[in-house]
This record gives sequence, C-alpha cells and structure tokens, in this order.
Amino acid sequence: ATLGPRHWRARRARQRQEARLSRLVEKVRSGAVPAPADSVLDRVSRHRHPGGELLEPRTAAVELLNVIRPTAAISWFVAFAAHALHRWPANRERLCGGDPTYAAAFTHEVRRFYPFAPFLGGRAVTDLSWRGESVPAGGMVLLDVYGQNHDEKLWGDPYAFRPQRFLECPVQRDELIPQGGGDPGAGHRCPGEGMTIGLLEALTTRLARLEYEVPEQDLTISLRRIPARPRSGFVIGDVRSPEA
Ligand code: HEM
Repeated sequence: ATLGPRHWRARRARQRQEARLSRLVEKVRSGAVPAPADSVLDRVSRHRHPGGELLEPRTAAVELLNVIRPTAAISWFVAFAAHALHRWPANRERLCGGDPTYAAAFTHEVRRFYPFAPFLGGRAVTDLSWRGESVPAGGMVLLDVYGQNHDEKLWGDPYAFRPQRFLECPVQRDELIPQGGGDPGAGHRCPGEGMTIGLLEALTTRLARLEYEVPEQDLTISLRRIPARPRSGFVIGDVRSPEA
C-alpha cells in the first residue's frame, strides 16, 4: 500500500513466492514431493476447474498465498494487542481469567483503536448520489476507516482504549469497520472478519497468559506507514529462571 522501494520489494517478494509455490504444486502433482493428505497444499494441488482440468500452477500458488497472506495480516493486530497489554496491563488479568465475552470486547477494541488500513477505495460502477453528494460513474469513493473508528459521535472518548465499551453496547455492523463496511456478500467488507476475530480472541488470551519481558524498543506508531504498526514491531524476551 506504499509508494516507492517498499512497494517494489513487496512485489518482488510476492513474485518470488508465487514462483516457489508454483514449482511446489508441480512437484506435488508429479509425486516428487509428498503433501500431507488433505492438507491445504494437497487440496489446492488436486483442485480442478468445473471442466475437469487442474488449476494452472500459478493460480494454485496464488490460492495458497491467499490463505497465508491474510493470516499473516492478523499478526499486525496481535502486535497491537501486545502493545495494548503493555500500556494498559489491567486488561491482562481479565483476559487471563478466560472470560470469552471480555476476549471478544478486547479484540474489537484493538481493531477499533489501532490504525491498520486508514481508508479503502472503490470506483462507482454507475452515477449515484449519497446523502446529497453526487458521484459520477468511475468516480473514486474513499471510506474513511480510521475516521469512522475514531468518530466522537459514535465512540464518546474515541482515543481512550476501553474494551468495556463493547460490553456496554454490542458491536454494530455499520459502526465498527476496521475490515471494511457494509455486507461482506455485496460490499467492501472482508469475508474473513469472523475468522480474524476468532483467531485474535484465542491469541490475545494466550498472549496475556504468556510470561515475557519487553526490552527497550521504539513502540511509537507512525500513521504515515500503511499498514501502520509499532516502529519496532513488538519484541518480547524470554523470562528465564536464573538456573535456566
Ligand atoms: C488483519 C486482518 C484483516 C484485515 C484488516 C482485512 C481487511 C480486508 C478488507 C478491508 C477487505 C475489503 C477490500 C475491499 O473490498 O475494498 C478485505 C477483503 C478480503 N479479505 Fe480480508 N482482512 C483481514 C484478514 C482476512 C482473513 C483472515 C481472511 C481469510 C482467511 C481474509 C479474506 C479476505 C478476502 C477473500 C477478501 C476479498 C473479498 C472480495 O474481493 O470479495 N481477510 N479484507
């Protein structure tokens, strides 16, 4: 999502991975490399078009990356969750207790409070008007994700990290939009949102129960980086007993 060298590095990395996974799919098909039965690699390698032909190796590679890429994206939110536990440690106790309702509220607050994608763009497919604004066909419409998730009218004290708000009032589809808005079946909303929430609930609880040290590092978050993240990532250190 960034212009310049980082963008080109990312593109090269993607091409490299697509080439590597295309070769892997070919090797699985020829039997040169075994794939665990019914693993994603096995299923994608064997998948056929409705006409019966196997997927092109590159298409199969893209499908494999489509599983890995968004799962890796969740690690961004996990780093933000670690940041929140570090800044507001009282949350740790409540998460350690294993209350699933609190884990859900904490997960929603991490996704609301922290920046990930600042906005999403789409082109109008037809001339349209929305609340008195007209947009011509082909016009670019931006959804202000960060602005909506920090709108004072919706959230009261938007810059306070307060999972409690989701215990007081259940999450509303058109208010909390860290993964896009509207109906996932018809609009610009992530169909993997439920999976993201489920993984984050499990991982933030595990993180809260983990004993670790937070070494000196730069935890500032620049809104110029897309997607945003703590400058140092979130480095944790092993807590070892003196004998270990
Ligand atoms: C950090 C976590 C994630 C974020 C912030 C995120 C965000 C988004 C957003 C904003 C879109 C809509 C883009 C648009 O239409 O303009 C999208 C689409 C999509 N997401 Fe996610 N996502 C995440 C994780 C996941 C996961 C875990 C999965 C599945 C395992 C997933 C699968 C998809 C798919 C398949 C689409 C394309 C849908 C389509 O084109 O109709 N995402 N995501």
